[in-house]
Amino acid sequence: MTDQAPATESEIPGQTTGDVPGKPTSASRTTLSHIMTHSDTNLLGTVHGGVIMKLVDDAAGAVAGRHSGGPAVTASMDEMAFLEPVRVGDLVHVKAQVNWTGRTSMEVGVRVLAERWNESTPPTQVGSAYLVFTAVDADGKPRTVPPVLPETERDKRRYQEAQIRRTHRLARRRAIMELREKRVAEGHQD
Ligand SMILES: CC(C)(COP(=O)(O)OP(=O)(O)OC[C@H]1O[C@@H](n2cnc3c(N)ncnc32)[C@H](O)[C@@H]1OP(=O)(O)O)[C@@H](O)C(=O)NCCC(=O)NCCS
Repeated sequence: MTDQAPATESEIPGQTTGDVPGKPTSASRTTLSHIMTHSDTNLLGTVHGGVIMKLVDDAAGAVAGRHSGGPAVTASMDEMAFLEPVRVGDLVHVKAQVNWTGRTSMEVGVRVLAERWNESTPPTQVGSAYLVFTAVDADGKPRTVPPVLPETERDKRRYQEAQIRRTHRLARRRAIMELREKRVAEGHQD
């Protein structure tokens, strides 16, 4: 993983960022909806967290592919939060958008909402997650992505928050690698 962050926390790309033309957030924003059935449940009778995570990965992958204009693989998924149980008969909406772009990677933010499939009450938020996707070429090597162009104040806030997460991911990874190298140098086997 490269350690280079393309912008400081306060930098939000404008319409003319870099050599590659940017793409607005709304161009790839996507919602995936699915009704939960008995085959989606865990032993407690509510919907299995893994079912929700698959939908999250699917929706985020679609967004990453649309934004980058080609294949993109999940590099990491973090801060997956399950806020409320999801039940059989819930219509689940997984809303995803590109929050931030680096050189070859994108952070996709996902919100998971649920409503009863046959009632007109407003949906409630049941989960959220942040995923990093890396755009890849035919050989699986990282390729450049268009910079995302945040449009609304909410998009801009999400861009700035995503940069904070990016900084923390890199710092955590670097600290762990340094610790491992230090332990090897000290003669520890594992
Ligand atoms: C993701 C993958 C392509 C990265 O390849 P790599 O050789 O490590 O490439 P790099 O180190 O140049 O990283 C490329 C970009 O991905 C980002 N990245 C790589 N690993 C990451 C991780 N674990 N978390 C967050 N970002 C990551 C880097 O920060 C970099 O972003 P940038 O270009 O915007 O700065 C590679 O690890 C891979 O193919 N993993 C398997 C993906 C997969 O199969 N996913 C499905 C899940 S089963």
